Amino acid sequence: MQIARTIPELRKCLGGQRRAAFVPTMGNLHDGHLSLVEKARTLGDLSVASIFVNRLQFLPHEDFDTYPRTWESDCEKLRAAGCDVLFAPDEKALYPEPQTCKVQPDPALADILEGHFRPGFFTGVCTVVMKLFACVQPQFAVFGKKDYQQLMVIRHMVRQFALPIDVVGVETHRAEDGLALSTRNGYLGKDERVEARQLSQTLRSAAQAVRDGERDFAAIEARAVVALSARGWKPDYVALRRQSDLQAPVAGDPLVVLAAARLGNTRLIDNLEID
Ligand code: PAF
Repeated sequence: MQIARTIPELRKCLGGQRRAAFVPTMGNLHDGHLSLVEKARTLGDLSVASIFVNRLQFLPHEDFDTYPRTWESDCEKLRAAGCDVLFAPDEKALYPEPQTCKVQPDPALADILEGHFRPGFFTGVCTVVMKLFACVQPQFAVFGKKDYQQLMVIRHMVRQFALPIDVVGVETHRAEDGLALSTRNGYLGKDERVEARQLSQTLRSAAQAVRDGERDFAAIEARAVVALSARGWKPDYVALRRQSDLQAPVAGDPLVVLAAARLGNTRLIDNLEID
């Protein structure tokens, strides 16, 4: 695996490569990330991953400073996964001057759900992803469905800017008890880790209610919030939305149920498509 620390180094590694498949990450890699690399390897001639903890997508009170940085083990995992090129710039290399030019995603998609509770989050994500796309110039970009709204915001950005990139979504990787793999799971204490499975179980119950024909979506959402709260969670939202645009559902739309909730000091998100 070649490692590039700067944009010129990356360009050298890529050479004239036309069919790169790209997996952007913030590091602290787990099997979910590695499944994205695996997918990337099936798509392009060259798999490229990036590790960059992007300050722009963290609010001042969030965990930018403490976000786990696990360089050695990340490199080992990427090597073992067969990644060809790792782009790992430091802040100076990616943002040599203040990044005042930003990508403002469509508020209809980016200011709801995660964007409502983390204002500016998707501007930070889109700005860094656009910049990483400019550096890597991939033909494919692979993102996890775990960050469902992020995937939709990026797909929309790529479409609106006519970027010549196929955005590919990969199913959420889950632990045996159903917990979606996430870097932030590492913040959970032992008891919290056991309790954390309730988030996916709550989503499964909500999805089952829809499959069983219940159509009072507000009641299903409220029940899920009450159930989590009763167990000591602090839910930000449990929302049934259309898969196509994350807006409120109309009869017959394929739906997704999304949730964000805090367990102790750890904020977890998850979602489930309802087929
Ligand atoms: O999903 C993530 O890890 C980040 O939001 C991303 C896409 C790497 C941008 O920093």
